[in-house]
Amino acid sequence: MMISIAMDGPAGAGKSSLAKAAAKELGYIYVDTGALYRTLGYKALQNGLTIEAGETVDKMLAETSVDIRFVDGEQHVFLDGVDVNDKIRTPEVSMAASKISAIPAVRAFLLEKQREMARHHDVLMDGRDIGTVVLPNATVKIFITASPEERATRRYKELLEKGQQVEYKDVYDDMVKRDYEDSHRAIAPLKPAEDSVLFDTTGNTLEMSIPLLVNLIHERLAE
Ligand code: DC
Repeated sequence: MMISIAMDGPAGAGKSSLAKAAAKELGYIYVDTGALYRTLGYKALQNGLTIEAGETVDKMLAETSVDIRFVDGEQHVFLDGVDVNDKIRTPEVSMAASKISAIPAVRAFLLEKQREMARHHDVLMDGRDIGTVVLPNATVKIFITASPEERATRRYKELLEKGQQVEYKDVYDDMVKRDYEDSHRAIAPLKPAEDSVLFDTTGNTLEMSIPLLVNLIHERLAE
């Protein structure tokens, strides 16, 4: 049996940095599922599609291949054979990803790809519905959160470091909007799985959170 750690939570809770670091310590593969939704959002934007359920998105999915590959131990997503890793982290793509992720056909399209990863590897998988839908039998489920202000501040700094021109208020407003949409959609909304452990990173730096999280996972694995 493979080990799977499901890590869900809202944008900016520190999920991906924490998940990446914890996976490394544990020797598991880190799977960033948000990148898959971002890739489809990116393609829809590139093709000028209005992102809503219906024939245009169905048609796009029928003509789309999304593959996860590992380059130097790091996940890269290939869209129709092309590595799009450095294209999918802009605020526009974030919003498009959130929108497209509410479409049932999109979630169905990505579900098996995610499960496939967990069938063949010990994984630490992060997303919104990993503990509730993708891996309901995950060995350990963690719900990561932090206050909206702190999450927006972190995302703001991250974008500035990448050289993107953004205003804090826009980042905060986008985040609150995305949280609302992610947790109120009809299908696979963001919510803690009943058997998940809550991990709040408010007030903690990444360096402080990593050992706390790794300890928590070890404790749960030993149960
Ligand atoms: O984790 P992220 O910010 O890269 O995710 C981008 C968007 O994708 C997020 O707003 C919601 C969606 N998403 C999802 O619906 N389910 C997942 N498992 C991961 C992401």
